[in-house]
Amino acid sequence: MPHGKTFYLETFGCQMNVHDSEKVVGTLTSLGYSRVDRPEEASLVLYNTCSVRDKAEQKVYQRLQQFKRGARGRRFAVLGCVAQQQGRRIFEKAPHVALVCGSASYSQLPVLVSRLESGDQRVTGLEPANGEAFETSFTRRDNPHRAYVTIIEGCDKSCAYCIVPFTRGKERSRASGSILEEVRSLAGSGYTEVQLLGQNVNSYRDPSGECADFAALLASVALISGLRRVRFATSHPRDFSRSIVDVIDAHPVLCDHVHLPVQSGSTAVLERMRRLYTRDDYLRRIEWLKGARRSIALTSDVIVGFPGETEKDFEQTLSLLEEVRFDSLFSFKYSPRPNTSALELDGRVPQEEAGRRLTLLQEKQRAIQIQRNSGLVGTLHEVMVEGFNRPTGQWIGRTSQNRVLNFLAPPGSGSLAGRYVEVRVTRAGPNSLAGESVEQARICSNGLGGS
Ligand code: SAH
Ligand code: SF4
Ligand code: F3S
Repeated sequence: MPHGKTFYLETFGCQMNVHDSEKVVGTLTSLGYSRVDRPEEASLVLYNTCSVRDKAEQKVYQRLQQFKRGARGRRFAVLGCVAQQQGRRIFEKAPHVALVCGSASYSQLPVLVSRLESGDQRVTGLEPANGEAFETSFTRRDNPHRAYVTIIEGCDKSCAYCIVPFTRGKERSRASGSILEEVRSLAGSGYTEVQLLGQNVNSYRDPSGECADFAALLASVALISGLRRVRFATSHPRDFSRSIVDVIDAHPVLCDHVHLPVQSGSTAVLERMRRLYTRDDYLRRIEWLKGARRSIALTSDVIVGFPGETEKDFEQTLSLLEEVRFDSLFSFKYSPRPNTSALELDGRVPQEEAGRRLTLLQEKQRAIQIQRNSGLVGTLHEVMVEGFNRPTGQWIGRTSQNRVLNFLAPPGSGSLAGRYVEVRVTRAGPNSLAGESVEQARICSNGLGGS
């Protein structure tokens, strides 16, 4: 049986959800709840959900299924994108759920939770709160070194396959003064890396008019003292301007990495997807990025098997991969989503065929990554240390280009977590690099490191 005011929270989906969960944890903690590691120990079990693909949506129902019986004394909550999309229908599918709340209503959580505590059976927060706050004063950040900061919520694009505009609502930019104040205060309390978040950061428009556009906001954030790294996600190619590349070039604290989801290499498919750019438009942006003074890592997202995608279209995606040579790629089979306009398109691609294309695409990308990463053997990189892997005895670091670089450091260096360390790459795999800290290399070459 669960004891007292305890909660268990599991998060699915993108970084926006991960950051939202930090707000939820902070809010519940301020209400006197303490977090536990297992749902069995919790009086309140919350799932912060994602509905971008059907598989992601099904996960929450699988979790809830496990508790159909024996849930006495425990309350269940569905938060996030499935909550917003399904609303009260969740109560029909999973009658033991007591709270359904979308992300725009998290500022109402104290009231909603107190209603649960006073015995209400079904509580919902599905209408955006008035004067919605981008951050709560409670936000409890998980990582002591890297902080997420929301700069824009929602999405005004209407990509034919995408459910996000329905789950996250209309685009709302946050005033630059509030963003800069928060980043200053994070830097003041020891954070050295910030990640600016939004579904489409490039369409950022400062409601106060102080910053002309996203590039101007980036330039202002880059000047805040104490920061060593600034990242941002996600960029939409249509709104990605050359001035962003200029700002990255001008400010070394802006990381050498841009995630620019392409979705398809075929202009015909892009048009059906309503992505608002052509293959050539996309490649022009890649040219700007490759023309930068610094070497900027490029990553992307691709969907295969979109309705009407022919073998020729798919080959164009493969050839785009060859042309751009992304450093890393997320690839998905098209998943039909409720409310989206792609449901009306014909030319359904059979599952097996979509699966075949996905495998081919992933094989090609893997080969590209092996080649690219192998080219880095022998080079030096500054990594931010994220943790220690006890079984391998390696520290886990991340380069400015967002590559994972696991490395050995001299024993007795103390905890390196959160520190910046120079590491030489000694080995390369498709998804990560291995190396040794420059200090370790020095010890080895002096003959002190061997056994
Ligand atoms: N706002 C971001 C993407 C959010 S969703 C952007 O515009 O880039 C993250 C990724 O999920 C998308 O880039 C897309 O590749 C994938 N995705 C979204 N809807 C999908 C669907 N219905 N089926 C398969 N993949 C999808
Ligand atoms: Fe979805 Fe397109 Fe908006 Fe990205 S830009 S969240 S893919 S609708
Ligand atoms: Fe998923 Fe919602 Fe993010 S649908 S990808 S959690 S915005």
